[in-house]
Amino acid sequence: MKKESRLLRIGVLGCGPISQIAHFDACRKARNAELYAICDLAPDLVAKMAAEHEPKATYLKFDEMLADSKVEAVVIGVADQFHVPLARQAIAAGKHVLVEKPLGVSVEECEVLQSEWQRTKCVFQIGNNRRFDPGVAFAHRFIQEEMGRLMALKAWYYDSTFRYTMTDNLQPIVRPSAQARRPEGKPKADKSRYFLLGHGSHLADTARFLGGEITAVRARLREDFGAYGWFVETEFANGALGHLDLIIPICGDFEEGFQIFGEHGSVQGKVLAPWFHKTSQVECFSGKDRVYRRPLGEDAHTYKLQIEGFADTILHGLTQHGANINDGVAAIRALAAIARSVETGAKMQLTEMSGGV
Ligand SMILES: NC(=O)c1ccc[n+]([C@@H]2O[C@H](COP(=O)([O-])OP(=O)(O)OC[C@H]3O[C@@H](n4cnc5c(N)ncnc54)[C@H](O)[C@@H]3O)[C@@H](O)[C@H]2O)c1
Repeated sequence: MKKESRLLRIGVLGCGPISQIAHFDACRKARNAELYAICDLAPDLVAKMAAEHEPKATYLKFDEMLADSKVEAVVIGVADQFHVPLARQAIAAGKHVLVEKPLGVSVEECEVLQSEWQRTKCVFQIGNNRRFDPGVAFAHRFIQEEMGRLMALKAWYYDSTFRYTMTDNLQPIVRPSAQARRPEGKPKADKSRYFLLGHGSHLADTARFLGGEITAVRARLREDFGAYGWFVETEFANGALGHLDLIIPICGDFEEGFQIFGEHGSVQGKVLAPWFHKTSQVECFSGKDRVYRRPLGEDAHTYKLQIEGFADTILHGLTQHGANINDGVAAIRALAAIARSVETGAKMQLTEMSGGV
């Protein structure tokens, strides 16, 4: 991997699955960053990961990693319930933050973090890595520059019953630890909430990235044979109407996708599971020349590209391409609105949302 002369010194918090399969590799391969430190309360995981990835420093306690003045930025790769308290600690210590999605688990806690962040100079990014898929980024640019006004956006996210058959071959073997810290009360047992937070956070962000601000939703949830399907009518601030589908899992292939229809063109995309590191199949049709465009053959290691984007913003002041803290709060509002709408059957305005997802 060719490295630049100035590398952002990153400390990764959490040596669990997401760091093992994405962040350690991403920091090591990023052209402008280095895996400077790692941290986990589980000493066995820290020892195994240090032997494999050779960071310069290791920590068992987050506050000790934060006290290391060489650490310029942290990646927070821990359970959703811990994101906000640990991100607050990190910005209070003056560190730049890339926190895994979703930003948090309730509107209120995310807004507290947002107001604290506004008083800092820290770069804050959410791990919505799909924005760094070259196909999704191409679609985003095309919509901004060529599409004119939008009529409609449909987007979907389907996890697959057979996901692990595929991903087990694509990812390193994940090391477990009995000493890993987990949130109280087994939140993963509430599957509908866990799926909406974990998978819905990608869908909400992709819809907002491509279609703009979401203002209102009306959602229904069907639950049967261990599968959960959310069907969400969506209104956008720019007047576009849309529909979001989230089904976890389908008895079929993993797929994220979208169709967007505008004044001067249309876009359709099939986003592959990110572990293939392959550009999504995204086609952008322009009415001007009546030609489809489809990017191909790009570097599509989205976890590495999100680290590179994060580091470029911090080191060189480049415009943030990744989801920022306002995007994270907006996504949580959208997910809370979907959850409330399922409970009440009513259309929910995102500005009126409060409470947990
Ligand atoms: N972007 C993606 O595509 C993607 C994919 C999978 C998971 N995720 C997200 O990644 C996050 C983490 O997932 P995971 O499966 O790795 O979680 P996990 O809970 O299995 O592992 C987290 C690790 O962090 C450690 N930890 C927790 N609190 C700590 C603290 N205060 N100090 C030190 N160590 C601490 C734990 O000991 C554990 O080893 C979740 O928010 C999840 O939504 C994102």
